[in-house]
Amino acid sequence: MQLQQEKTTTPPSMPPEMAMLQMTSGYWISQSIYSAAKLGIPDLLKDGPKSCEDLAAATGTKARALYRVMRALAQVGVFAEVQEGCFTLTPLSDCLRSDVPGSVRAITILFGEEQYKAWGDILYTLRTGESSFEHKFGMPVFQYYSQNPESGKVFNEAMTSGSDAEKAEVVKCYDFSTIHKLVDVGGGQGSFIASILKANLTLQGVLFDLPSVVAGAQAVISAEGVAERCEIVGGSFYESVPSSADAYILKHVLHDWDDETSLSILKNCHRAMAENGKLLVVEQVVPPGNEPALAKFMDVNMMMLHPGGCERTEAEYRALFEAAGFQLTKTIPTQAMVSVIEAVRV
Ligand SMILES: C[S@@+](CC[C@H](N)C(=O)[O-])C[C@H]1O[C@@H](n2cnc3c(N)ncnc32)[C@H](O)[C@@H]1O
Repeated sequence: MQLQQEKTTTPPSMPPEMAMLQMTSGYWISQSIYSAAKLGIPDLLKDGPKSCEDLAAATGTKARALYRVMRALAQVGVFAEVQEGCFTLTPLSDCLRSDVPGSVRAITILFGEEQYKAWGDILYTLRTGESSFEHKFGMPVFQYYSQNPESGKVFNEAMTSGSDAEKAEVVKCYDFSTIHKLVDVGGGQGSFIASILKANLTLQGVLFDLPSVVAGAQAVISAEGVAERCEIVGGSFYESVPSSADAYILKHVLHDWDDETSLSILKNCHRAMAENGKLLVVEQVVPPGNEPALAKFMDVNMMMLHPGGCERTEAEYRALFEAAGFQLTKTIPTQAMVSVIEAVRV
């Protein structure tokens, strides 16, 4: 009897069709969060709760429509309704503010705009094996972001702020103390190399990315107080990378490219580096079988954004490195879903 009672008070697990509907309507939640982030609602709530009338007046939206989105988001914990029509931040929406360390506002906007539209065309990628982003927007991702400065700004901000946890984990988990000069290849606007330099006071750094991207890097590097130890170089890693450093780090670069292009980037690093140089690749590593990992959906994302873009298994990295003249020495997992894959020049 006792057992039976316990059984009936335990909520039944969700029927498969309900669980499936929850998954298939997932974009209702993600696009509602995108709209709140884009409108800057979390920033408007940073000093305390506000009514939907006030929020609507500040964001140029209709109060009733905004209320319905806020009410829906509140039931999944993104905001909380404190009095009728009045909302406050929660820990979840706090990280959508633009002024907090580790803010995910820019990356939420990045996912919600062009990339969301590219996902709407997933069947194109499945049928052709080609990038749905390029199909939709008529050009490669990086060209698109350099020709559309507003979207490019969001992309660069997302790369700068969206990976604070990753940066901290890499700095904590990898020992940079034996390295004298480190080049961050495709390092965006420098927030990653700046965190490594801040934690390793004798290290010299070089930030390398496209000229249009590094044009905005000086402010980031100076604000981090490492300008004296960090050179900023614009160029293309298809052609060459800055020479003579003893280590080259590539974070979320190789996953944008097919094996052939990745190989040419790695060979350029090999050619440029000092003898006994090290290669450090920071990426999500796809685990085997059914093991859950964000890497598996990130892999689909990469497939739709970039021709040949993919996340790789450790064995695939090993093979890629060998083809470029490196030997994989260790893979160090971190708490932030990325691993540091170290290789040496052979
Ligand atoms: C996914 S982002 C990663 C940025 C940064 N490493 C991070 O983890 O936040 C890829 C970077 O590669 C850069 N990139 C793309 N094509 C490039 C090229 N031909 N030469 C140099 N950098 C390039 C982009 O500008 C971008 O900053």
